[in-house]
Amino acid sequence: MSNITPASPLRDWLAQPTAGQVLRGFLASQGQSEEALAPALGLPLEQLVQMSGGKFPPELVDALVTAAETGQLPDGVPTVPASGPAPASGPAPAVGAAKSAPGIEIATPDPWTEQVTPGRFGGQSVVVTGAASGIGRAVASRIVREGGRVVAVDVSADGLDDLACDLGEALVPVTADITEPASADAVLAAAAGRVHALANVAGVMDDDAAVHEVDDTTWARVLRINVEGPMRLMRAVVPGMLAAGGGRIVNVVSEAALRGSAAGAAYTTSKHALVGLTVSSAYQYAGTGVQVNAVAPGAVATGITMPAPAPYGSSRTAKMRVAIPRLAVAEELAASITFLLSRDAVNINGAILPSDGGWSAA
Ligand SMILES: NC(=O)c1ccc[n+]([C@@H]2O[C@H](COP(=O)([O-])OP(=O)(O)OC[C@H]3O[C@@H](n4cnc5c(N)ncnc54)[C@H](O)[C@@H]3O)[C@@H](O)[C@H]2O)c1
Repeated sequence: MSNITPASPLRDWLAQPTAGQVLRGFLASQGQSEEALAPALGLPLEQLVQMSGGKFPPELVDALVTAAETGQLPDGVPTVPASGPAPASGPAPAVGAAKSAPGIEIATPDPWTEQVTPGRFGGQSVVVTGAASGIGRAVASRIVREGGRVVAVDVSADGLDDLACDLGEALVPVTADITEPASADAVLAAAAGRVHALANVAGVMDDDAAVHEVDDTTWARVLRINVEGPMRLMRAVVPGMLAAGGGRIVNVVSEAALRGSAAGAAYTTSKHALVGLTVSSAYQYAGTGVQVNAVAPGAVATGITMPAPAPYGSSRTAKMRVAIPRLAVAEELAASITFLLSRDAVNINGAILPSDGGWSAA
């Protein structure tokens, strides 16, 4: 009897003698290899299935559980035996990181759990956009658990309802499209007073299109949501922050704000523009108590969807994605973002903080 479950990390599934063969067989049938999954080895199997957009079907989980429990390889499905030693358990190491080197043994990293600081946001109101899913949801949750009140903004009413059920009265949901001019007024009305901090998290991806492939609809949508939406909310909250003697704004950008190879032309342009808005505002309000910073996530396991990839652009970006050290979870990004939203960010203004496991250092 195996004690591996769908909540076990992918690494453990690959190491399981029979299920590992089924998983490798499935990857091979998709033209993939286990090396391609290296950044995701620390993720639970069920989370991978959830975020794969159907590429990892739920039936695969059933087949893997049966193979692990019975020790039998199922009939009629491709299987591939392990080629090398079984991977060690624990979180995924960086791709290409040495496991040992002359004179030194490198252990697998300690697993991480959230370091919740009770009362860090006590008495504070924080506006969080994109709060119905992924990184925004994790930020909203962390702030409420640290004593804050969150005005949670998203287009997804269902997602906000779900979050409100989890977090209770400290969460004020506002169903709104941040690109609509009226949304800023709705947010200020819901805040009903002082806004201590704003996290502009909502954003959408592009299809990796290079400029010769970009269509006007994608370009306009990505720029509107990723740049215009954050600008509208900043414009709405800054006067109150100036009048109150301070406030903190964190814009969520991306690895694509730091380099040209992480996404398509529209997304890369939008995130570079958001960096421009961040540093311009940091300069303009320096000395007023209003601080404006950004966090640049690397790859994060969330519900973010990518449209069908553009053929030329995606063939170029795929080459660079092999340098991604690891796939983070949303709570890890919330740790970086809530630090900059908190009073501990006291002397930080205009910083663009990569939270990417070292991708930008490569
Ligand atoms: N997931 C990643 O790998 C990754 C990497 C780099 C940067 N980012 C950035 O992180 C941010 C959050 O992404 P995520 O991965 O959590 O995505 P997600 O899709 O899980 O969450 C984004 C949320 O934004 C909301 N949203 C989208 N358009 C909106 C609009 N017009 N008005 C209001 N809400 C809107 C969506 O409904 C969704 O709930 C984005 O800005 C994204 O560009 C993500």
